[in-house]
Amino acid sequence: MRIDIITVLPELIQSPFEASILKRAVSKGLVEVYFHNLRDYSTNKHKNVDDYQYGGGAGMVMSIEPIDKCISVLKSERNYDEVIYMTPDGETLNQQIANSLSMLENIIILCGHYKGVDQRVRDSLITKEISIGDYVLSGGELGAAVLSDAIIRLIPGVLNDETSALTDSFQDNLLAPPIYTRPAEYNGMKVPDILLSGNFPEIEKWREEKAYEHTKNRRPDLLE
Ligand code: ADE
Repeated sequence: MRIDIITVLPELIQSPFEASILKRAVSKGLVEVYFHNLRDYSTNKHKNVDDYQYGGGAGMVMSIEPIDKCISVLKSERNYDEVIYMTPDGETLNQQIANSLSMLENIIILCGHYKGVDQRVRDSLITKEISIGDYVLSGGELGAAVLSDAIIRLIPGVLNDETSALTDSFQDNLLAPPIYTRPAEYNGMKVPDILLSGNFPEIEKWREEKAYEHTKNRRPDLLE
């Protein structure tokens, strides 16, 4: 998979790809991630990529021209399955969206800034708009990092234990059951006996019951 990220602040989004699982995914060649500085596509001498709002109002708007130029160059080199715009009024990211995006070949992620982008970008260049939650960030970069992480960890071969993404919270609309590691007892707090029993069918049953209970208590909406 290839992810092209368009941003005015590449330095804000590069570091998550330089550590741990994302770094390994990139170095194993399981995903290619490229950052494109929108200012490189600005046609004015100050390298501006934004302008005042028509009709007045506070806040600058990202102009269509540099965004169109950048996306056109990328599209001239390969086909893209989705051109995603990170915005608080997009579809809220969930596990199903991450699952389906992880199966694509090439995607572009455009990070918004200032007041956002000229509506004509959204109307003519963007194929999907994603929000990472009902709050406003100062730019789309952190959202793009969250989205990329959620996608990349699902690519086969990225996680060491191939099955572990399948037992995550939200896969099957259930939250994950409680987990324990050594010691079996700490300050009088014991690991449930069943987990020490070696009876794997019973352990599986216990985990399913706990996952259901936990989901019912914390996120009953997922069971509806
Ligand atoms: N840009 C600003 N706020 C955002 C959000 N909540 N999700 C995605 N992109 C954003």
